[in-house]
Amino acid sequence: MTEQKSDYEFLLAAPKAELHVHLEGTIEPELLFLLAERNGIEIPYRTPEDVLNFQVEKKTSSTENLKNFLECLDISRGVLVKAIDYYDLTMHFLKQCQKEHIVYAEVMFDPQQAMRQGVEFEAAVEAIGQAQKDGLKEFEVETQWIMCFQRDHSPLEAEKILKQAEPFRDLIIGIGLDNAEVSGFPNLFSEVFRQAKLAGYHLTSHCDVNQPDAFDHIRGCIEQLSVHRIDHGLNVAQDEALVDTVLNKNICLTACPTYYATENSCPPDRMKMIKTLFRAGVMVSLNSDDPAQFGSGWLSNTLAVAQRSGGFTRQEMLRFMKNAFQSAWLPENRKKVYLDSLSEFERRVV
Ligand code: ADE
Ligand code: ZN
Repeated sequence: MTEQKSDYEFLLAAPKAELHVHLEGTIEPELLFLLAERNGIEIPYRTPEDVLNFQVEKKTSSTENLKNFLECLDISRGVLVKAIDYYDLTMHFLKQCQKEHIVYAEVMFDPQQAMRQGVEFEAAVEAIGQAQKDGLKEFEVETQWIMCFQRDHSPLEAEKILKQAEPFRDLIIGIGLDNAEVSGFPNLFSEVFRQAKLAGYHLTSHCDVNQPDAFDHIRGCIEQLSVHRIDHGLNVAQDEALVDTVLNKNICLTACPTYYATENSCPPDRMKMIKTLFRAGVMVSLNSDDPAQFGSGWLSNTLAVAQRSGGFTRQEMLRFMKNAFQSAWLPENRKKVYLDSLSEFERRVV
């Protein structure tokens, strides 16, 4: 007999993977206040409502504005100034994953952010690594980590950090690019991505939605950076040749329906692109990106918003969830364990 669940309960209860979530974007107000106080950092908020109101007031468009999104993110991630902050934040995130039934996450972090704030690279990564181990025991959530270089900072700095990361290969499985979308960025980072590829890392890059030069950037990431995934990358939907390319190369697009979204809905043009790609058979996964920013919410909320905004069936929502496990950077036998548990859930609940 199948269990009766509301759509939200169904999405919450399913065993899920997150492939596109930034550690620094998971600082919820309570932790933000705690870290700000502990570290003596001034922030322009007094209450949790202030955080959301400030961000909503900052919105200059109802769909995307990467610049002012990053301005707000900078205020939140500005409270991370010690290695212990990275430990506490990771543990907080993993505890939330357990509540969300996220059983596996590939989590992004920005070492340049930590280093600019006085946290040494090794100290930040060791703190994350300790939390990875403790969190696995305490919350039963498996993580692997994606080290993102910031596209608006020096590629030479990125090369130096790539060398520093060598002792942490067990933890860091992928390299990504994030932050402000600088014109022609794939070309700038081709050397460091060449080195990362040689070293055996999995590769991804943000191509944020509706940015200037979106098609060139997507093509550049595929051709010059040899990425295995693209974070966002939804403008692929508007170019048939790019749709063919991502299909042929089986490139996963990690879509984020609630990123910078208003009133808990996915902007219609973004949903249209997600649907076009999904119907064309492209590997699209659904992710939260920065759950504590701009009211995005955690993954189950993101999935519920996507289901409502896109009119997807439960079977289709399960397809998105399977896409995430299938595109995860895990050995085939580990993927199978997760996919089997999702199939078992499907038999029991759908
Ligand atoms: N950092 C956190 N979220 C991001 C996004 N969506 N694009 C670029 N940089 C980010
Ligand atoms: Zn992102």
